Amino acid sequence: MTSNFKINLTLLTLGVLIITMVGVTASGHEKVQHLNHGDKAKAVSPEVLAKINLFYESSVKSIFKNSCFDCHSSTTRYPWYSEIPGAKQVIQNDIAEAKSHLDMSDGFPFIGHGSLKEDLEAIRKSIKDESMPPFRYRILHGSSRLSDEQKQTVLEWFDSSIALLK
Ligand code: HEC
Repeated sequence: MTSNFKINLTLLTLGVLIITMVGVTASGHEKVQHLNHGDKAKAVSPEVLAKINLFYESSVKSIFKNSCFDCHSSTTRYPWYSEIPGAKQVIQNDIAEAKSHLDMSDGFPFIGHGSLKEDLEAIRKSIKDESMPPFRYRILHGSSRLSDEQKQTVLEWFDSSIALLK
């Protein structure tokens, strides 16, 4: 067996393992379909939204683009392992699930099922407890893990946004 072949086999095994993990977690969640966008934005003054958005666009968006958009937006970069038979479908299901919870495609305010504050709280929690990006994604996309500095930026954005929403 050539070493190249061995590497390919290892990658394939890893791929199958990931797909199984993704499949298991994705099927365990119920679909929640109460997304809103316009309604919650209406409850907040345009000036406040503009301030939150300015910080988001200048500092946070690039972090989310690298670590979250593959699942929480319409701009997915499909990875090499999507070529493994069956994988693409599993990835697409994962994306549909992620977007049904939180869709960042159209910028801030995101489409989520809570109020602006609740969606921000959910993001803060996912950053603090490192539940996002999910482990299964992080092991294949090493650079998607937020650095301490990136986490700090997102948390500062969160704090200043919550202060503005009070
Ligand atoms: C591999 C795909 C994937 C990536 C990448 C990813 N997520 Fe998720 N995310 C999901 C899925 C699937 C769900 C829904 C199921 C769950 O909660 O685990 C979810 C749920 C969430 C929720 C919960 C929303 C709610 O209903 O309260 C938040 C918040 C969230 N993600 C934030 C993020 C952030 C922030 C990033 C980037 C730092 C990120 N996610 C990256 C797949 C992903």
